[in-house]
Amino acid sequence: MDMDPVRNPYSPGAGSPPPALVGRNSELEAFDIAIQRLAIGRSAKSLMLTGLRGVGKTVLLIEFGKIAQGHGWIHQQIEATEDIRFPEAMAMLVRKALLRLSAGQRLADRARRAFGVLKSFQLRWDLPDGTGVVVGIDPEPGLADSGVLDDDLAGLFLEVGEVAQEQGIGVLFTIDEIQYLSKEHLAALIVGLHRVSQEQLPFMVVGAGLPSLPALAGEAKSYAERLFAFTVIDSLPPAESHVALSTPAENEGVRWNAAALDSVVEAAEGYPYFLQEFGKQAWDVAPGPATISEEDVEAAIPIAVNELDTGFFRVRIDRTSDGERAYISAMASLGAGPYGSGDVAAAMEKTTTQVGPLRDALIKRGLCYSPRYGVIDFTVPMFDEFVRRWQH
Ligand SMILES: Nc1ncnc2c1ncn2[C@@H]1O[C@H](COP(=O)(O)OP(=O)(O)OP(=O)(O)O)[C@@H](O)[C@H]1O
Ligand SMILES: [Mg+2]
Repeated sequence: MDMDPVRNPYSPGAGSPPPALVGRNSELEAFDIAIQRLAIGRSAKSLMLTGLRGVGKTVLLIEFGKIAQGHGWIHQQIEATEDIRFPEAMAMLVRKALLRLSAGQRLADRARRAFGVLKSFQLRWDLPDGTGVVVGIDPEPGLADSGVLDDDLAGLFLEVGEVAQEQGIGVLFTIDEIQYLSKEHLAALIVGLHRVSQEQLPFMVVGAGLPSLPALAGEAKSYAERLFAFTVIDSLPPAESHVALSTPAENEGVRWNAAALDSVVEAAEGYPYFLQEFGKQAWDVAPGPATISEEDVEAAIPIAVNELDTGFFRVRIDRTSDGERAYISAMASLGAGPYGSGDVAAAMEKTTTQVGPLRDALIKRGLCYSPRYGVIDFTVPMFDEFVRRWQH
């Protein structure tokens, strides 16, 4: 009897909740404490999660949302894209939060004012009037319609925080892929949040993005590092990688052979997405009924790698230009990263200045980041190996 594919617990996929969320207790606890502090009027820093592709940032944002909701808070999430219209996205978040804060109640004066402030913001920023279902709201000028985005965001956030406080609850906004915000928008967000954080309202923003983020935020505003708690989300150490694989199987009455587990943990290098993919394929090839053996893993690894190549890795190069691909190939030809920008240029027989625009485009696209000055690396773990496989 084969193992039941229906009961396969592993969950490779963007933002797919893992069957066992391991190695993130300190982040979860820190967030829980921050929420509780804000709820009683104490201060807490906004949070920024940074990490490579597939380490589990989105999963953590979702988990934070659940924790916040557990404390009775309202949670709204957005995902930034390269072409995000930021003021509109913020207005939408605020609108949804205000709608939920006023759901099922006769619109209290305070909430009515908040909708008015939102309306003024939308008018000032030429946005569609999204107050929508709330009729008869007059614009409330003077609080979020100066035309200076940081002031106006601060004005909007203050409204949300104050309405929430009045109702004895809180509001959490999570912004995924935050590295796609322009420097100006990120700066406005940071300054706006700074204003609100001084009021100690039950309002919090958590961002998640690629490792390029702290540098971007640092350039955006020098005090970003003081205002935000930057937390690096990394690959899992071997002991935790073992648990990430063995616990979900145990819950289904299936045991991993110890050597089999070691091989998968090694092949995945502790990266959560890879652990899920390798685990899934090993389960599906195993004849079972109740163990996953070394032979199963040997058979599963090429299947898993192929799965990653045609999905997880492949989508990253789908929209790249020929020039960008040449740059990527040059990086991969040098082995594992990080790479000196000069070395990549030399591999292309060009100067650093000549290939600078390609490098910048890849960073903007989120495929590469600069760990420090003059150095570049892929944001996708093991991407260099994929590029070398793909070229053959
Ligand atoms: N702590 C964890 N333990 C085990 N598996 C995890 C953990 N965190 C995430 N995963 C798994 O890893 C995969 C990637 O998670 P997620 O999409 O949250 O990563 P990400 O950092 O947001 O990646 P990207 O930068 O591509 O958006 C998912 O399949 C998820 O189930
Ligand atoms: Mg994500």
